[in-house]
Amino acid sequence: MPVIDLLDELSPVGRNPRTGGYDRLAWTGVDAECRLWFEQCAEALGLDIEIDRNGNMWAWWGASFPGSALVVGSHLDSVPSGGAFDGPLGVASAFAAIGVLQRDGFTPRRPLAVVAFADEEGARFGVACAGSRLMTGALHPDRARSLMDNDGISLAEAMTGAGRDAAALGRDQERLDRIGEFIELHVEQGHLPSSHGTEGLSVPIGVADRIWPHGRWRADFIGQQNHAGTTPMGSRRDAMVRLASVVLAVRSAAIAQGALATVGKILVEPGAVNAVAGSATAWIDARASDEAVVRRVLEAVRRETGTELTEESWTPETAFDASLASKLAAELGNVPILPSGAGHDAGVLSLAGIPTAMILVRNPTGISHAPEERADEADADAGVSALADVIRSRTTLAA
Ligand code: HGY
Ligand code: MN
Ligand code: MN
Repeated sequence: MPVIDLLDELSPVGRNPRTGGYDRLAWTGVDAECRLWFEQCAEALGLDIEIDRNGNMWAWWGASFPGSALVVGSHLDSVPSGGAFDGPLGVASAFAAIGVLQRDGFTPRRPLAVVAFADEEGARFGVACAGSRLMTGALHPDRARSLMDNDGISLAEAMTGAGRDAAALGRDQERLDRIGEFIELHVEQGHLPSSHGTEGLSVPIGVADRIWPHGRWRADFIGQQNHAGTTPMGSRRDAMVRLASVVLAVRSAAIAQGALATVGKILVEPGAVNAVAGSATAWIDARASDEAVVRRVLEAVRRETGTELTEESWTPETAFDASLASKLAAELGNVPILPSGAGHDAGVLSLAGIPTAMILVRNPTGISHAPEERADEADADAGVSALADVIRSRTTLAA
């Protein structure tokens, strides 16, 4: 089936009618519906479905073939009110590419798997790429189990509610040993400079060669909850005001250092119009092409606001397998090579020593993590044929 038709089948799932975006948070009922779509796609192609102990989904073609597996895919979860393509495009393109190969009568000579990694965005429990990090051991299972969502539900409780065994989480050496290479196709998420001297992709597809270092930090503020109509301005301890100073400091430090830093999520208690805030929490996302620059942003915020920042996750600069990236770019017709400012499961696998590459599909709006995220049908089809070519050339000889 064409990739756009596969995505169309998924499109009602988790659609937010108010924004036109998608709410597909990990281990919710909507996530279960996305997983059902994965199973239906796999079944239609005669692939063997497997869910690993970290909740990642696999669809195997030739699981018993000799050699290490070529894995393609991405994730299905989204940020709140996210776009339709970040994640699902990679999974749907993998299924569409297998459909093309099967119609051509092709049979791989080594195992091939489509993967949908669990909880890539970390939008519910705070840690991005939880499924792949658990699989590689980059996230400790005890920490994962105790991560909380905004309603005080732990990841362990949410997984149990979804029928998974949270006690089984953890590094999956056997699976890591089976993966020979991972290739993640993904919608382009911004217009970073490409090797072709343009901002973003000037052609339908490109290749990513690295991911910027990035992390998430939390700042907690304690004030004194009090009446808005009776508490003199001079005697307030207002958690909201201290939080606001951090929001502004993050922005000016990022601009001064040439980094990207964002406060995109806050929690304020009690959240009443007529009460001074008693407590508040802000989450900071900071990234740059260079780790030292990210660290300088955080230092400046600490210094200027006197706020303690707790690191919730950190991903160092990730360079994908250089020969794989350049081979792929050449094989696909000397397509542009770009860095990725966004994090991906591909980065987690690469840091675990698995040869990894990414194919990017042009995004005409340049907007991502938002309803306006786009991939045109012709570009998505180009992505599928690129992926089919790459699968064909890499599975013709047993690895
Ligand atoms: O936040 C990110 O970079 C991502 O899309 N997981
Ligand atoms: Mn994303
Ligand atoms: Mn993604």
